[in-house]
Amino acid sequence: MRIGIDFGTSYSAAAARVGDRLQHIQFNGLPQFRTAAFFPVALPDPADFRLTRELEGEVAVLVRAAKAEQTRSGAMPRSEAQLYRDAVQVVRRQWLEAQVKEAEDSAADLDDAVFGEEAIDRYLLEGSGHLVQSPKSMLGYDLLPRARQTITGIAAQILEHIRMAASEQLDIDVRLATIGRPVQFRSSLGPEGGEQALDILAEAAQIAGFEAVDFLEEPVAAALHYHAGSDTRHSTLVVDIGGGTTDIAHAHVGGSEMPVIHRAWGLPNGGTDVDLALSMAQFMPLFGRGDTRVPAHHFVDAAMVQDMPRQRAFHKRDFSEVPAPYNGRLQALQQDGGTTRLYRGVETMKMRLSEHQASRHELDYIDAALSVAASRADLTAASVDFLGRLARLLQEVAAELAMPPDSVFLTGGMSRAPYVQAVVRDAFPHARLVHGDPSLGVVSGLASHL
Ligand SMILES: Nc1ncnc2c1ncn2[C@@H]1O[C@H](COP(=O)(O)OP(=O)(O)OP(=O)(O)O)[C@@H](O)[C@H]1O
Ligand SMILES: [Mg+2]
Repeated sequence: MRIGIDFGTSYSAAAARVGDRLQHIQFNGLPQFRTAAFFPVALPDPADFRLTRELEGEVAVLVRAAKAEQTRSGAMPRSEAQLYRDAVQVVRRQWLEAQVKEAEDSAADLDDAVFGEEAIDRYLLEGSGHLVQSPKSMLGYDLLPRARQTITGIAAQILEHIRMAASEQLDIDVRLATIGRPVQFRSSLGPEGGEQALDILAEAAQIAGFEAVDFLEEPVAAALHYHAGSDTRHSTLVVDIGGGTTDIAHAHVGGSEMPVIHRAWGLPNGGTDVDLALSMAQFMPLFGRGDTRVPAHHFVDAAMVQDMPRQRAFHKRDFSEVPAPYNGRLQALQQDGGTTRLYRGVETMKMRLSEHQASRHELDYIDAALSVAASRADLTAASVDFLGRLARLLQEVAAELAMPPDSVFLTGGMSRAPYVQAVVRDAFPHARLVHGDPSLGVVSGLASHL
């Protein structure tokens, strides 16, 4: 049996066609899960310490140095046995520190991985281990061989998690999948980044136990889904606005004829770009952005939780010379889970501002009395860049169509935002706006594709 997999920047989902019925795979009782994985670090056990020949050598060096120091300073001599015990203590402590560092640097315990929202909760609770969020957004970037291997392993874990859940719920060993792909991946390498992303996903799927996978453009999948539910033949523009990318397809759908896909367009921007802009405009000034000499990119490093090298760079920085109160706040943000909590606050605020005029996030994990507030107008100001890109792409699409579409089918999580809907409506004022399920349109189409 072939399943459809929507490996999304923010959320992932899977579904299969069983007879003429669509079955959505459940993850913790829901048809999608946050694309995040937590890998707990197995902390070393001090009882595992053994004095190897190499460590014995280090002990001998320390004992000799201590004896020389004793002679030089004329201090009260300690017995040979005492010097030896002290040296072993030092070597043991260094060994333990090295073990902890090694555990933290490695990709950690892949077998004990936890996925979804629970991954973020576990990371915040434990304060150690590795949290990986939105790995899809890294696939098209310039990766050193080791980073590429790590990201492939993480994608493989997520795909295996999906394959296992699907196999159990469908009661069949699932080995085939159609995986969604954006028209244009987020990339620092141009079109080659997209090729790399597909290579990584194909390799990850193989590691995850899939025998064969194919890829289908996400808006094309959403068009197939929309077709299945449309009685009358008409032209449509599918607009899928997700966390990482915006994807568009022009198609003829509905009725008894086969759907015909004419063209697809993509923009490597989505909801996470609005999150970043909101964080820079409303949250980071509380950490000294604009009021100190801390370079702007350090704040970007802190805000982009999905970018592992940027997160590592932020956590290594020394902010002790930054003027108060920003030094203490930046240091608190560097504490375990700080940037993850902040990002959760940013995204939640963005989502709340889709329905409310104002929203507040308590920054009590930074400073007891600190909080950040923003209004709908603040969010609109922060979204200007993304909304401008979206409007320009829609204009380009409109100019390329011989006839305006009869309908615009809106899907993707960001299509819940009224300011996004307004931009789409402005671009196609005469088309009927159809609101699809923002979360499940793509996966439903992927499952229907044979
Ligand atoms: N009510 C809301 N208002 C504004 N944004 C929202 C709302 N609900 C969800 N979002 C945003 O939608 C995005 C997720 O959408 P979706 O699940 O379609 O993305 P995805 O499929 O994971 O990503 P992609 O398709 O780009 O790989 C996130 O940025 C999320 O913050
Ligand atoms: Mg999507």
